[in-house]
Amino acid sequence: MADHPSDLTVRGVRIYRTLLDLKAQQQMAREIGTVVAQAPLFTPRTPGGRKMSVRMTSAGCCGWFSDHRGYRYIPRHPSGQDWPPIPPSVLAVWAQLTGLDRMPDCCLVNFYGGRARLGMHQDRDEADTAWPVVSVSLGDSARFRIGNTYRGGPTQSIWLESGDVAVLDDEARLIYHGIDRVKAGTSSLLNGGGRINLTLRVVY
Ligand code: SIN
Ligand code: FE2
Repeated sequence: MADHPSDLTVRGVRIYRTLLDLKAQQQMAREIGTVVAQAPLFTPRTPGGRKMSVRMTSAGCCGWFSDHRGYRYIPRHPSGQDWPPIPPSVLAVWAQLTGLDRMPDCCLVNFYGGRARLGMHQDRDEADTAWPVVSVSLGDSARFRIGNTYRGGPTQSIWLESGDVAVLDDEARLIYHGIDRVKAGTSSLLNGGGRINLTLRVVY
């Protein structure tokens, strides 16, 4: 699999610190800016009807979506337009860390402004959860909490910084994880501040 050694492993999640240097982060932020211009960020609702604090969009052949009917992938942006293609710089990170020929179907773009957070959850809306999930952090630092493959129990948390990449696979693929908070002003990468997280998934 990966030919690049990770810096640390937390509860099975491999963390690659500053895999992307500043230039690479700037390039990726520009490419994600193009994605967001074509497929604007929206605020999903949980199946229970609450507005999520994270704003989202996607690139690829499908995008992650949530409303009163549940969590799922949808073939087009809620506006009815196709999702834009996954930027090449993002696909390169997937190829580098997974060593797979199979490319991801979806790049979910999460934007955390202000007090946005993401509750503990598993990534399990994909047809085959044997494929890894690769997660890229850009912008402000975030407190990333990692639990267990069941709900509850002990957790550990670490700060993810701009340019860090996390890989969830093998025994950690279905681990519960979430974002407690984002610390404003810790990065000047994004105009207007905030944090972007990209998660790459094989969906079908
Ligand atoms: C996610 O679990 O979808 C996002 C994780 C993160 O923002 O780092
Ligand atoms: Fe997730």
